[in-house]
Amino acid sequence: MKKNNRRDFIKAGVVTGVTMMTTSSHAKSSTPKEIKGPFYPITPHADKDFDLTHVDGQAGVAEGDVVEIMGRVLDTDGNPISGVTVDIWQANAAGRYRHPHDNNDAPLDPFFQGWAIVESGKEGAFRFKTIIPGAYPVMPNWTRPPHIHFKVSKAGYHELVTQMYFPNHPLNEVDHLLQGKSNEEQAMMVAKEVREQVLRYDIVLSQVSSNRM
Ligand SMILES: [Fe+2]
Repeated sequence: MKKNNRRDFIKAGVVTGVTMMTTSSHAKSSTPKEIKGPFYPITPHADKDFDLTHVDGQAGVAEGDVVEIMGRVLDTDGNPISGVTVDIWQANAAGRYRHPHDNNDAPLDPFFQGWAIVESGKEGAFRFKTIIPGAYPVMPNWTRPPHIHFKVSKAGYHELVTQMYFPNHPLNEVDHLLQGKSNEEQAMMVAKEVREQVLRYDIVLSQVSSNRM
């Protein structure tokens, strides 16, 4: 029963046709990479916990639609990886990063944390509570759809820098970055709706190859 539940959980992720029992063949593709972009935080944030809707020491809460993102970090054999550093950063609900080089004139939100670093736990699980970021203009004919930047790392695995997208957002269909990916890759980069305000986003890391006897 428990094993079936676990298998169903994996099947509900981004790649199908894989079981926990696979040991040697790399049945899963790793999550596609995406550019890091110019807004990785460079100013200190004391509070980088999993809840981005609230900043320590501030009385207010972030503007925007709250969403919980839960997922697991897996290797390409489908095994969960604990102790992985999952580092995320994103724009606020108005589409503005808390970064000195973001010249978007949308307002900053003093109550939005914007950056979080957590570690995957047992069974590779992690979660964040945040708000859906706003779309923001890049060029006159290009508006980035809501997305969250991820940097995922652990010794022994290739570091993954990517971007997570929100399901069914119309701007996904015309985004120059997301549309540069295959359908299969896009399916791994767009989170899945579990229920209202809860998304699942599983991440697959590839092992650094070693010459095992
Ligand atoms: Fe971005």
